[in-house]
Amino acid sequence: MFARISVKVCRKGNKGFRPAFSALGTGKTNWALSPSHIVNGPSRSLTTSQTSLNQEPRSESPASTHSGVSEEDLQMIQKFIRVDQAGETAAVWIYRGQMAILGRDPQLNSLLLDMKEQEKVHLNSFNKKIGRFNARPTVLQPISAIGGFALGVFTAMLGPKAAMACTEAVETSIGNHYNNQLRELVHLRGKLNSQPESAESSLADSESKAPQNPYLETRVNVSESDITQLMDDIKLFRDQELEHLDTAVENGAHSSVLYNTLSTSIQMGCKAAIYACERI
Ligand SMILES: [Fe+2]
Ligand SMILES: [Fe+2]
Repeated sequence: MFARISVKVCRKGNKGFRPAFSALGTGKTNWALSPSHIVNGPSRSLTTSQTSLNQEPRSESPASTHSGVSEEDLQMIQKFIRVDQAGETAAVWIYRGQMAILGRDPQLNSLLLDMKEQEKVHLNSFNKKIGRFNARPTVLQPISAIGGFALGVFTAMLGPKAAMACTEAVETSIGNHYNNQLRELVHLRGKLNSQPESAESSLADSESKAPQNPYLETRVNVSESDITQLMDDIKLFRDQELEHLDTAVENGAHSSVLYNTLSTSIQMGCKAAIYACERI
């Protein structure tokens, strides 16, 4: 059904992002934003033993079939990967910052180390996807690392419960963010499935006749299976972020005297960071 085509990539403009944030200061995450048919439901019952801490996402192999991904849709995917890479970079460095302060406590160190190792797996996956989808990293990538480390150190200096409040706020934001991306990808995959083959062929023909500028444009093939793989990885990472959220709550996030302040300010910061990293 899916005819082979090439899609031109022009790196300009980012549209279509609709961040949604919930559960500010409620102590509970409102996952009503994630309809089960889209995201298979948040797996709140998942345990660490069910998802290996060192679980590697599948390799980023080029697709064997190709479908009608428009230039605009491809730019959306590239935007997703750009912001996700920055977010996972920040996450790794938040835990590094917290471990620098709280790492002398063996129990806390083990907890933070486990979460950091999972964030590294997430980051490695998006590093590969940057290449696979020919996306550019955000120019804010170094700031993600520095800002993440500073946030980790700052919240850890306020105490273990404040560090956990930070984790809960960040993971709430990231969980919602990944669910938003999954909704867009479900929509995109449905669009591809409904595309008649003749339309794809027509697009392929027009693309093949278009003038090529090797300095400004890069051809990349995107298939339905690429999108499915991206969705599977985001689902897995989303579920692991929710495990981190649960861990933070179980370890006193809500008992921090600064819980409301930290939760509100950090989630606002995440929202601003997502907005910026998608665009520059
Ligand atoms: Fe992550
Ligand atoms: Fe996480």
